[in-house]
Amino acid sequence: MPTLLSPTIPAAPLFYREPLRIGNVTLASRFTLAPLAGYTNYPFRRSVREIPGVGLCTTDLVNARAILEGSKRTLDLLVTGPDDRPLSVQIFGGVPEEMAGAAKWLEDYGATMIDINMGCPVRKVVRVGGGSAMMCDTSGGTVKLVQRVVDAVKIPVTVKMRLGWDDANLTAPVFAREFEQIGVAALTIHGRTREQGFGGIVNHDGIRAVVEAVDKIPIFGNGDVRSLKDAKQLIDNTGCHGVAIGRGALSNPWFFRQLDSWIQTGDPGERATYSDRLHFMRTHLVRLCDWRGEAFGCAMFRKVASWYTKALRLPKNIQHRFNLLKSIAEFDELLEPFHDDGPPADWSEWDATSAEIPVPVGPNAHW
Ligand SMILES: Cc1cc2nc3c(=O)[nH]c(=O)nc-3n(C[C@H](O)[C@H](O)[C@H](O)COP(=O)(O)O)c2cc1C
Repeated sequence: MPTLLSPTIPAAPLFYREPLRIGNVTLASRFTLAPLAGYTNYPFRRSVREIPGVGLCTTDLVNARAILEGSKRTLDLLVTGPDDRPLSVQIFGGVPEEMAGAAKWLEDYGATMIDINMGCPVRKVVRVGGGSAMMCDTSGGTVKLVQRVVDAVKIPVTVKMRLGWDDANLTAPVFAREFEQIGVAALTIHGRTREQGFGGIVNHDGIRAVVEAVDKIPIFGNGDVRSLKDAKQLIDNTGCHGVAIGRGALSNPWFFRQLDSWIQTGDPGERATYSDRLHFMRTHLVRLCDWRGEAFGCAMFRKVASWYTKALRLPKNIQHRFNLLKSIAEFDELLEPFHDDGPPADWSEWDATSAEIPVPVGPNAHW
């Protein structure tokens, strides 16, 4: 697994030093946090933003209809604050009126921009005509839906999509051209098809075809970027104007700072220490509890606990206790010895970057 500790630091692409705009919004860097349902909520976004370097964060995907219905669960997903800007809210759905209505609602709510999900392979999203199902309708329906959203708001509207449904239907370049013409402000392209799910390799040629299909709007390349070398290869191979990072940011929230420092100075600079990671983990837990209450926050923490325990190489019994965690006080008691003793003798950041983030598995049809 390549990581930031790769002995040779690749040369940074110099054009990445120039500021990038999405519509009228200038980004602090060309590296964005890709939406990861269940993870990229307000607690995590706040913490990532405190480490500088991220250009834009996006919420988990939210159901357009549920926004209009005022569903409590959905409104929880929309919780944000002044320390969480610029913020793109990602919506999904297959009904143009609902998508446009939700976008307007979000504009009034204070979203910086709206992102339309055209990549999600999960059945409950595809079934309602949203997510990657939208990539199949090249006869006008998808473009009309996106147009309705663009026309409904003054803030920038972006689209995140895959390369297409399968290898025989790589529709992303065609949509990219049409979306640019109707006023979409930027695109993020996950370089896989829906059929691929999260398997196989990211197709850089496919992303390049999208970059070449548009005239002016920025294209963010996405998929499997975990190291400077990965970022460099993606940029060199595709010419993408920015890079969206998902799982790489979960296992290494300092990745944005390292990428930005690499762009500005040629050197990724400081890596996170063991103590930075302990602190980040606690802040994450505390913010989850602030967000959803202590009992539910602790339950949500279980979902992310395994990558922290792997990254810090905490013993198995701690992982087990995290799985039953009930309070912040219990967490503090469990972690106290590790603050005092510091990292295991041979601990390195390699441990952290190799922590795996779970992805949907099994045949696509059953997701
Ligand atoms: C657990 C998980 C949840 C995801 N949720 C979303 C989502 O809500 N919206 C979206 O557009 N993509 C979603 N994705 C896809 C990611 O944004 C990204 O395109 C994909 O993981 C590849 O990038 P990465 O290798 O940098 O993670 C999700 C991926 C994972 C693994």
